[in-house]
Amino acid sequence: MVNIAIFASGNGSNFENLVKEIQNGHVDNATCKVLIIDKEQAYAKERAQKLGIPCVYVNPKAYGGKEGYETEIMKVLKEYDVELIVLAGYMRFIGKVLLENYPNKIINIHPAYLPNFPGAHGIQDAYNAKVDFTGVTVHYVDEGVDTGQIIHQEKIMIDPSWDLETLEEHVHAKEYDMFPRVLKMVCEQIEK
Ligand code: GRF
Repeated sequence: MVNIAIFASGNGSNFENLVKEIQNGHVDNATCKVLIIDKEQAYAKERAQKLGIPCVYVNPKAYGGKEGYETEIMKVLKEYDVELIVLAGYMRFIGKVLLENYPNKIINIHPAYLPNFPGAHGIQDAYNAKVDFTGVTVHYVDEGVDTGQIIHQEKIMIDPSWDLETLEEHVHAKEYDMFPRVLKMVCEQIEK
């Protein structure tokens, strides 16, 4: 069993979906020990409450910079004995403290088919580019923006009649289907 922490900044629908897939036994090799948020009002917090997952807010501005902030996060991760960090809509770069403490143990979900459309607006950017396909990627996190080694990715063919909202729905549906499967696979590797 792998102890994970999920990091989120806002809505938290992927967080909720992962926890439900863990709780219903589809992901049977992970335990979600804690949700970490960097925004006090993140809606993910309410979801955590309903799901019975501890939620810890760490204020990025309260510890004199990224190193201090991540050192504070490290205390929480140690307290919960966390082995794998799962970023699910966490809108912040990961710094050296977390990367050094969790080498190849931080994964992120990105709503595009990397290396296409990295950054904060992957769905919108693909939509505006009028490309034939986009997708969802889960990758390891390194110091770059959505540049770490790809673990798994799946394509979504874009129907030209779709508006942005429809594309968003398709991308999120793919995320909810794919992320739990990839998490299970990553945990299997860790357990070996
Ligand atoms: C998802 O589309 C994820 O791929 C991206 O941010 C979004 C988070 O949505 N990194 P939610 O907070 O999980 O609802």
